[in-house]
Amino acid sequence: MDHIKILLSSFLLIFSFSSAFPSSSSASASASLKVGFYKSTCPLAEAIVKRAVNKAVSANPGIAAGLIRMHFHDCFVRGCDGSVLLQSTPGNPAERDHPANNPSLRGFEVIGEAKAQIEAVCPQTVSCADIIAFAARDSAQKVGHINYDVPAGRRDGRVSLRDDIPNNIPAPSFNSQQLIERFAQKGLSADEMVTLSGAHSIGVSHCSSFSNGRLYSFNATHPQDPSMDPSFAQLLKTKCPPSTNNGEEEDPTVVLDAATPNRLDNKYYVALKNHRGVLTSDQTLFESVTTRKMVMRNAKNGGSWADKFAKAMVRMGSIEVLTGSEGEIRKICSVVN
Ligand code: HEM
Ligand SMILES: *[C@@H]1O[C@H](CO)[C@@H](O)[C@H](O)[C@H]1NC(C)=O
Repeated sequence: MDHIKILLSSFLLIFSFSSAFPSSSSASASASLKVGFYKSTCPLAEAIVKRAVNKAVSANPGIAAGLIRMHFHDCFVRGCDGSVLLQSTPGNPAERDHPANNPSLRGFEVIGEAKAQIEAVCPQTVSCADIIAFAARDSAQKVGHINYDVPAGRRDGRVSLRDDIPNNIPAPSFNSQQLIERFAQKGLSADEMVTLSGAHSIGVSHCSSFSNGRLYSFNATHPQDPSMDPSFAQLLKTKCPPSTNNGEEEDPTVVLDAATPNRLDNKYYVALKNHRGVLTSDQTLFESVTTRKMVMRNAKNGGSWADKFAKAMVRMGSIEVLTGSEGEIRKICSVVN
């Protein structure tokens, strides 16, 4: 009798111990996500997302950039739990209202439309976090012919805080070392960081994200960032005049990869070699000896970059995910149940 009690309590101890660490902070530990997770519970889910993405991206290719970035911003803050989709409530400013997301983050309506269509056929079955992951993949396929399976089974979180952004989303002013550290915090390697930065082969940046630091007030003696090709800086200055660089009034946008702005490819890395990266966080990858070789390799071999990109997206998509009975399946992606 006594040793049954001891046995029982040691079982309980093991149980409570393991559940005290529900999600490891690394990106690798998600044997729990599965390709084809909705095969029996909502067989049309992935097709519905793909159709919504294809329609939206055909009308506006920039939406592909928005959806890939949305997955990144979701995963780096509280894991890939759809927290980026939650709207602010009175007294609780949410992630999407931080300046890193508002007004630049786009594609919310595509997720909303896919979710509504999925709810109509399988209510409260498919998480918003999974819909973002599928939509990012479908975007990469549409604008880059990069194909990969998305392990799914993520659950939606119930918390979204604007103030979580600064410590989690890397800033465009970061140098290579800071970027490596930030990605390492999420369980991603330096090579995965450089590989994923290749997403800046599509889409745009607002002038306010780089023009002060790179075009007008680099430091006390150099207004312009010396790591930028002066003729490229000249061109950017015409698009981002000084009067618009305080982010208050007009805030124009420039394409992140001038060579192929709507094509997810390795031309971004070629631009970095030519000192034509737009953000400090882009050009630093070539300026730093730690990451320069990775940039060179990606610039040279687009095929191997695309393979690495697909794998890194899957790894990013597994950061601190909620699974099983954690979190919830939202009915509407912008509000908790
Ligand atoms: C390495 C650290 C990164 C930094 C510092 C960074 C920063 C930024 C900034 C400042 C912008 C422009 C926002 C604006 O002003 O409109 C941007 C755009 C973008 N980012 Fe990143 N990013 C990083 C990594 C990533 C990753 C890992 C992905 C996805 C895998 C990604 C995908 C994108 C895309 C697609 C755009 C264009 C968005 C659009 O056109 O709507 N970024 N990023
Ligand atoms: C400004 O940057 C340049 C180029 O990197 C550097 O040589 C110079 O020492 C810097 N000046 C100041 C005041 O930091």
